Amino acid sequence: MKTILLNNGVEMPLVGYGVFQVAPAECERCVLDAIATGYRLIDTAQAYYNEEGVGRAIARCGVPRSELFLTTKVWISNSGDGPAARSIDESLRRLRTDYIDLLLIHQPFGDYYGTYRAMEQALQAGKVRAIGLSNFYDARFVDLAENMGVKPAVLQLETHVYSQQARMRRLMEDYGTRLMAWGPLAQGMNGFFDDPALKAIGAKYGKSVAQVALKFLTDEGIAVIPKSVRRERMAENLGLDGFELSAGDRDALRRMDTGHPLAADFNDPALARYLLGYDRQFNPARQ
Ligand SMILES: NC(=O)c1ccc[n+]([C@@H]2O[C@H](COP(=O)([O-])OP(=O)(O)OC[C@H]3O[C@@H](n4cnc5c(N)ncnc54)[C@H](OP(=O)(O)O)[C@@H]3O)[C@@H](O)[C@H]2O)c1
Repeated sequence: MKTILLNNGVEMPLVGYGVFQVAPAECERCVLDAIATGYRLIDTAQAYYNEEGVGRAIARCGVPRSELFLTTKVWISNSGDGPAARSIDESLRRLRTDYIDLLLIHQPFGDYYGTYRAMEQALQAGKVRAIGLSNFYDARFVDLAENMGVKPAVLQLETHVYSQQARMRRLMEDYGTRLMAWGPLAQGMNGFFDDPALKAIGAKYGKSVAQVALKFLTDEGIAVIPKSVRRERMAENLGLDGFELSAGDRDALRRMDTGHPLAADFNDPALARYLLGYDRQFNPARQ
């Protein structure tokens, strides 16, 4: 399993397994399958409501905890020094572990400075090995990275062949922050799995659209966390060794970049309002 070195010396697998929209009841089985397939990085979040399934799987999988890499994310309704600190302890309990390998602020809304301070303290206390951000763009990212003592180790952004995050990648270099691609298969949007250009490149190597896209991203040093509930797809998405994309094909893939995310614009006020109210559907008590 290829790894990359984070800005605090922690080693992180380049390919991981994401569990967004994996139903809580199915999550344990999926994570067990993913680990059996060879994944070692599991990406979950408080707002996925499936940390417990991840925890049950890592307790049962037979792979030593030290060989696994667990990522979770603090949700907006847990933002601020005290709530974030308490939520980190709750995540540890649900994940059945005494440390989280990578902890991210999920969304750039709420009291995220307080959340980051709580994460820095969790880092000092050994509850977390690395901290970072998700969905922070441009000035918001720079403001936090400039102001905080611990520079974000990872920034998780929507990243795929249609949105390659060139501008953000240049900004992140100043802080040694590594990009982790969420939605690396474009969540199937834009006709991704039937994209003729991706299919044509794949045909040259006997590889699938998913494999071409993931190979391209990982060759650029971008960590990827594709999600599938199907074991054969988990294996497919991990099968990135034994072929090399030619320079011409890499150039063609670079030209597919539209420069804009497809799924989510984090400057859109409607998205902010939706996310600020997101967990009310799960926790009516939180109004
Ligand atoms: N930080 C954030 O805000 C954020 C946002 C979104 C996602 N994420 C993280 O990033 C992970 C990945 O993103 P994502 O789940 O949104 O999207 P994704 O990995 O780009 O795409 C997942 C979709 O592709 C299908 N799929 C997977 N492999 C396939 C293959 N080889 N062939 C055909 N179809 C395939 C899956 O269906 P099946 O499951 O039916 O196979 C699912 O519908 C998430 O699970 C989560 O951990 C983070």
